[in-house]
Amino acid sequence: MRMKPSRNLLLGLCSMLALGFLYYSSGRISLQGWGHKSLYDKQGFLLKLDGSLPLELIYKYGNLSEGACKPGFAAAKMTAIYPKFTKLAPMFLDSNYKRFSKIGDHSPPFGVKSQEKIIDILLSATKSYGLGEELDSMSCKTCVVVGNGGILANKSLGHRIDQFDVVVRLNEAPVKGFEKDVGSKTTMRITYPEGAIQKTERYETQSLFVLSAFKALDLKWLRHMVFNQRLRSTDGFWKSVARHVPREPSDMRILNPYFIQEASFKLIGLPYNSGQMGRGNIPTLGAVAITMALHNCDEVAVAGFGYNMSTPHAPLHYYERIRMSAIKESWTHNISKEKEFLVKLVKAGVIQDWTNGICGAGC
Ligand SMILES: *[C@@H]1O[C@H](CO)[C@@H](O)[C@H](O)[C@H]1NC(C)=O
Ligand SMILES: *[C@@H]1O[C@H](CO)[C@@H](O)[C@H](O)[C@H]1NC(C)=O
Ligand SMILES: *[C@@H]1O[C@H](CO)[C@@H](O)[C@H](O)[C@H]1NC(C)=O
Ligand SMILES: *[C@@H]1O[C@H](CO)[C@@H](O)[C@H](O)[C@H]1NC(C)=O
Repeated sequence: MRMKPSRNLLLGLCSMLALGFLYYSSGRISLQGWGHKSLYDKQGFLLKLDGSLPLELIYKYGNLSEGACKPGFAAAKMTAIYPKFTKLAPMFLDSNYKRFSKIGDHSPPFGVKSQEKIIDILLSATKSYGLGEELDSMSCKTCVVVGNGGILANKSLGHRIDQFDVVVRLNEAPVKGFEKDVGSKTTMRITYPEGAIQKTERYETQSLFVLSAFKALDLKWLRHMVFNQRLRSTDGFWKSVARHVPREPSDMRILNPYFIQEASFKLIGLPYNSGQMGRGNIPTLGAVAITMALHNCDEVAVAGFGYNMSTPHAPLHYYERIRMSAIKESWTHNISKEKEFLVKLVKAGVIQDWTNGICGAGC
């Protein structure tokens, strides 16, 4: 499936400039207007959000020592503000993925429909579908999703980031040279062809390479990377793509596309568009990663998300000099609606925002 050039351009702009973690000025969320009587907003989130812990959790966690991982915390808090939440959704596609009916009915990016053949080939080559023995056997896991926002710079959060069991990084965000602020540990790097690190020497030596497939072509690309085949053509991509990924097949994964579907249609409430990619209905990779973490981690923190409109000359990303004022409206994402969703999570204490860029002064 080839995309129209105009769309490619817009997608490209969007990725370069927004990368998903940057939000237009702090437009306060308006939760009024969906009927005075309902306790819930249109997406099914509780209207009255505060950080208080449900009673049963206070009891459950009462005896834990300070700072200990709280089993089931993120899912319990999520369910408390969003009763439709069900935890079951594996991080990565595994050999049982066809039983997960929610993804069988949708084509990429929202599911796996008509991609089963190539996915089967990929999964039989990678053979591994988890985080690795040590992490998979932990009864309580803390995760941090590190966004790429300039807000991470000069906050010396690296040491705290490294203390999480699972450190999720996105696209090409570098670690080397930025350890003080962003940490040195990378459990996984979630990316897509156009966002992936292109210079092989810039890959960290250990981490899972996780594809978030936004189009059918992305799975074909992954097949080339897994089997180390030469990429003959880059038609259909909206900018240059990585041509070699220095990872063994056993370190490669396919992100469960359910997180894109759920983030878009349920949690953020973007247009369904008959279940197809359309204007403003693709969540950013950052929102997808947070959705994945809500389902698979006991505690979830984020850093490097959001930005401060009152400092237009501050850097957009922590690792380059593009300024925030360069940000443009995007065709694919709906940054303001996405921000409303993230604000709910922070306000209710479902996730901890260590750089305070999602709420800023506004929660
Ligand atoms: C917490 O500790 C007290 C005293 O040791 C015990 O009676 C109680 O059952 C414990 N609560 C939980 C949830 O484990
Ligand atoms: C971080 O500190 C360095 C060195 O002091 C400075 O050059 C840079 O502009 C700062 N970045 C931000 C985002 O404040
Ligand atoms: C984002 O959503 C709002 C509210 O639904 C809508 O008015 C706006 O046009 C959307 N923006 C994009 C880029 O789709
Ligand atoms: C935004 O940046 C300004 C200037 O550095 C600062 O005074 C303000 O507190 C920041 N706002 C938020 C919400 O972080």
